[in-house]
Amino acid sequence: MVFVHIHLLFGVASSLVIHSIPWKVPCPHQCVCQIKPWYSPQSVYREAPTVDCNDLLLTQLPTSLPPETQTLRLQSNLISSVDQSELQGLANLTELDLSHNSFISTHNLRVTDLPALLSLHMEENQLRHLPEAAFSGLPNLQELYLNHNRLRSISPGAFKGLDNLLRLHLNSNHLMIIDRRWFHALPQLEVLMTGGNPVDTIQDFNFKPLGSLRSLVLAGMGLREISEHALEGLLNLESISFYDNNLTKVPREALQKLPGLKFLDLNKNPIQLVKKGDFRDMLHLKELGLNNMEDLVSIEHSAMENLPELTKLEITNNPRLSYIHPQAFQKLPRMESLMLNSNALSALHRQTVRSLPSLQEISLHTNPIRCDCLIRWVGAEDDKPVRFIEPQSTFCSEPPELKARRVKEVSFREMADSCLPLIAPSIFPSYIQVKHGDNIALHCRALAEPEPSIYWVIPKGLRLTPSTKLGRYQVLTEGTLEIFGVTPEEAGFYTCVAQNLVGADTKSLTLKVEGSGRAQITNNQRNEDSLEVHDVKERYALLSWHTGHNIPAARISWTANGSLEDHHKHSTRILAGTRGFNLTRLQPGTHYKVCLHMGPNDTSCVHLRTKEVLLLVPSADITPVFLLGVSVFFLILLAAKTCQGRTMYDWKEFEKPDSTILTQEAKAFMAPDSLQQYKDKLSKGSGKVPSDAKPVQDVPGPAKEVF
Ligand SMILES: *[C@@H]1O[C@H](CO)[C@@H](O)[C@H](O)[C@H]1NC(C)=O
Ligand SMILES: *[C@@H]1O[C@H](CO)[C@@H](O)[C@H](O)[C@H]1NC(C)=O
Ligand SMILES: *[C@@H]1O[C@H](CO)[C@@H](O)[C@H](O)[C@H]1NC(C)=O
Ligand SMILES: *[C@@H]1O[C@H](CO)[C@@H](O)[C@H](O)[C@H]1NC(C)=O
Ligand SMILES: *[C@@H]1O[C@H](CO)[C@@H](O)[C@H](O)[C@H]1NC(C)=O
Repeated sequence: MVFVHIHLLFGVASSLVIHSIPWKVPCPHQCVCQIKPWYSPQSVYREAPTVDCNDLLLTQLPTSLPPETQTLRLQSNLISSVDQSELQGLANLTELDLSHNSFISTHNLRVTDLPALLSLHMEENQLRHLPEAAFSGLPNLQELYLNHNRLRSISPGAFKGLDNLLRLHLNSNHLMIIDRRWFHALPQLEVLMTGGNPVDTIQDFNFKPLGSLRSLVLAGMGLREISEHALEGLLNLESISFYDNNLTKVPREALQKLPGLKFLDLNKNPIQLVKKGDFRDMLHLKELGLNNMEDLVSIEHSAMENLPELTKLEITNNPRLSYIHPQAFQKLPRMESLMLNSNALSALHRQTVRSLPSLQEISLHTNPIRCDCLIRWVGAEDDKPVRFIEPQSTFCSEPPELKARRVKEVSFREMADSCLPLIAPSIFPSYIQVKHGDNIALHCRALAEPEPSIYWVIPKGLRLTPSTKLGRYQVLTEGTLEIFGVTPEEAGFYTCVAQNLVGADTKSLTLKVEGSGRAQITNNQRNEDSLEVHDVKERYALLSWHTGHNIPAARISWTANGSLEDHHKHSTRILAGTRGFNLTRLQPGTHYKVCLHMGPNDTSCVHLRTKEVLLLVPSADITPVFLLGVSVFFLILLAAKTCQGRTMYDWKEFEKPDSTILTQEAKAFMAPDSLQQYKDKLSKGSGKVPSDAKPVQDVPGPAKEVF
């Protein structure tokens, strides 16, 4: 990308091949003398008399160089010093290439007067230090290459006298600071490369003297953050690269100080989230790259906003990126090219595409695309056609019957219109170990139609919904669980649940806190787990239980009296964090055995008998009793909740519809056939959950989860 930018900035016509022409002069021994094409640092083309003496094991300059020489190439020799006398008479020498030689000090570069020299290559030598005024004999120098040396220090006035320098390459040295004082001598500098030095901080106003700078490369430096004022003064900067650093967030305040920025490269940084406002009001930004980020999981709501000149956005090769908020992009009127290939995206929301009025092409290949309602827009006729890049390699990876079909070739009708939430398996690991006192953020996101709600269940079994705070916990609206100053008490099993009208998906993680012994999944409050019956009517029973821990794979089973055969045993999975259940469609006047299964050795059962149907009592009399019963039930639970100071129950959950639960484990182990069967049921609207114990037949009807 760096090279692309420079190419764009300077319009170097490097692809033009112009052949050398012979230059008939007495040429130094073993060297080649030709007239060769040459471009000045400002891209002015010349035909330059060139002497090539590369790779000849020379320890000093050849003698009797032709006086007309403009370009002298001496790379890959063993030269460790040059004296002005050796270059005497080369009045038109414009480029001197001493790269890959044996210089250990610029004191051995005794050139005092080369007024025509524009370009000096000293890369790949063994320079360790630049003294004051190290290049003072070169008043017209425009390009200076010092990359791949061993520079540890550079005197504040090292570049004195280089008033016309346009490009300075200092990359791949051992510099630990970038000193602002170096730049006072370089008012014209346009390109600065300092990447590959172990500089971990950019000071405030570090580049202030460089008002003419157009391109800055800060790649591969181990930068952890860029402070607000670090880039101040770079009023003409058009291109900046932060490639391969240790930035954990977008340096948004610093970027706001670059009014002319057109190209921004943040590739290969451990950024987890691109947050609201990270790229906002950057009026000239044309191209943005967010590639090769191992940790990137989500592009959030309004992550990019008001970027009137952005035409190309490249977000590729991010193995954990599974979520782009439908409204991630706002006011990007000129976005033409959206590159999203090779991520972990299961879908791209129609709204994302519709929010980009100038969009012409999308690249989505090499993503685990789920061919269902979210990607349906691809086949819809009414949308303005958007070109797919590599459509022949853009495949569906789900559902099983569409697997390996090309997304573009699946018709609108073949894709289901409802979709389960799906939490990407890679969004967080299933085990993490942290230190006592660490702050942790666990990001959970899911795309579905309708948009799912997300909650977390913590090891104590409590359910935390977005915008709640409890002790060290906080759940953000987007679905991130934050734990501040973690202690061994927070060790244990966490589950994220994403739920919509269609169903739910869950993903769990074990958190180990160093020094807490093994992850605690203790059952010392086991007596709390007992199942209780709160109310029994003719056709339903309200059940509740307390639990001191998070049970991600709980199940309720029930059997009517006398029917011991398996096929009369009903079973349903219970979403993590649920503590009450409305068992519906029971037979009146029947004895039931109901069990809650919380683990292989942890089952709690109750017996109950549903009411007889009282045919003689007018229904108007029943209703108030029933309502009273229900509200007493609520009140009891509310009271219990207040006593324990637990404020995190989501009491709105009473109206919860039937849920299909798809856990990560189930997804992993379910054979495609059974997954399909259950999706078929889903699309028929029965909302049944496959039992993990026995195949469920004759499920008496949807059971309602109450809280
Ligand atoms: C240097 O270039 C100038 C202008 O192109 C030319 O007149 C002069 O002869 C050249 N000098 C040598 C030594 O070739
Ligand atoms: C970046 O951070 C990681 C983890 O903190 C560290 O191991 C790595 O050495 C850092 N990289 C650089 C270039 O400083
Ligand atoms: C159901 O079971 C209970 C208790 O085990 C027993 O007392 C009762 O007679 C049974 N009822 C029927 C209809 O089988
Ligand atoms: C339980 O389900 C029944 C039948 O669907 C319903 O009438 C009743 O209101 C539900 N009770 C609660 C507390 O949700
Ligand atoms: C369950 O009980 C069996 C036999 O008593 C025992 O071997 C097994 O370890 C127990 N499992 C758990 C998870 O406690």
